[in-house]
Amino acid sequence: MHDPLGLYAPDNRDDPYPVLARLRREAPLYFAGNEGAGSFIVTRYADVAAGFRDGRLSASRAEAMARRLPSEARQWFAPVVDNLAHWILLRDPPDHTRLRSLLGQAFTPRLVETWRPRIQEILGELVRAIEPGEVELVGAIAGPLPVLVIGDMLGLPPEDRHRLKACSDAIAAFFGATVMSQALLAGARAAILELEEYFRKALAERRQTRRQDLLSALAAAEDQGSMLSEQELLSTCTAILFGGHETTTNLIANTVYTLLRFPDQLQRLRAEPDLLASTIEEVLRFECPVSRMGRVARVDFEWHGQQVKAGDRLFLSLAGANRDESQFPEPDRFDIARADNRHLGFSTGPHYCIGAALGRLEARLALEALLKFPRWELLEKPTWLDNLTVRGPKALRVALS
Ligand code: HEM
Repeated sequence: MHDPLGLYAPDNRDDPYPVLARLRREAPLYFAGNEGAGSFIVTRYADVAAGFRDGRLSASRAEAMARRLPSEARQWFAPVVDNLAHWILLRDPPDHTRLRSLLGQAFTPRLVETWRPRIQEILGELVRAIEPGEVELVGAIAGPLPVLVIGDMLGLPPEDRHRLKACSDAIAAFFGATVMSQALLAGARAAILELEEYFRKALAERRQTRRQDLLSALAAAEDQGSMLSEQELLSTCTAILFGGHETTTNLIANTVYTLLRFPDQLQRLRAEPDLLASTIEEVLRFECPVSRMGRVARVDFEWHGQQVKAGDRLFLSLAGANRDESQFPEPDRFDIARADNRHLGFSTGPHYCIGAALGRLEARLALEALLKFPRWELLEKPTWLDNLTVRGPKALRVALS
């Protein structure tokens, strides 16, 4: 692997920020070869923000992912590539614009706010199940809450959540793998096939009998003028399920862990609960749950004195941008009252997170519920997920009393 500054060194997994700072200073467009496929990493705030809006960069990269596979595996893996190629996240205009205007209606801040009582109800059940004492918070709250909420919005029965979460975890493991393996590919393939089968059946039921849920709305959109093809429908369901919970799990877990790391900030939040919203924003900056997002160059161009060629992959580092000293004074300080916090935790530009209002609401309500326990104590320093895209602790063992 070509990686002279050691971006991919395993030692950086727990604390990637020093190496990202070095890239910002010395190699703002850093070329690293990973698994036989080269890619650039962009780490400065101004470059990352500009990159998300740059028409020379395409979000459509499912085929580029497939090209990294050995040729004999490509046909076998085609169902995954077909599914991902239709995700809103991985599309360019005009398809992106069409999907965005359709889906955007389901996630407006006003509509999301109507979910507050239901989210509180789900949280109440989860919190009641944890007696005061020792608890593993990812398994008890941060993991189940988002999958139950997005499952409810889609109209899926709560008892299916373990199955859905397992599928989504397998896709996440594939997406940000540090080293690709046959097991990860097979896991992602099995998950996509299972989800497609699951959603095909659920959508067929909604076509028979409409309900008040997002699946029915998607099925109806399809009927009213073929807005979505069958593959787009299946891919959209998969993308919403995935986007709607991996990230939120980590936002909740990262918030609790970061407050435990900085007890003065936890104490301040307890004294000034109105700072909860800005605490969540600071976590989206300081320990952002999505560390990087990929793009593919559409054309040849020069950037920072280097030649980028059409087809090259570029990763825009949200984690790098969010710690850039030229944008944030004292960027390595966790400050729950930080002013002018224009972080890129949800990215920016046309693909700006469609679920931002929902993710924020879930995180705020989860924190409100957990702050009712007056004492938090970290029982074990967590290890971070072995993933280059999704950042969060594998488990979070705490004592609550
Ligand atoms: C709370 C934590 C969350 C974080 C940190 C997060 C992060 C992100 C980021 C960084 C992007 C932009 C990707 C890009 O520019 O290529 C994105 C897009 C997206 N997110 Fe989120 N997300 C979160 C929650 C959610 C939720 C709750 C949903 C629920 C539906 C969701 C659904 C999506 C979708 C569908 C897109 C694609 C939008 C598009 O391509 O136009 N996300 N998210």
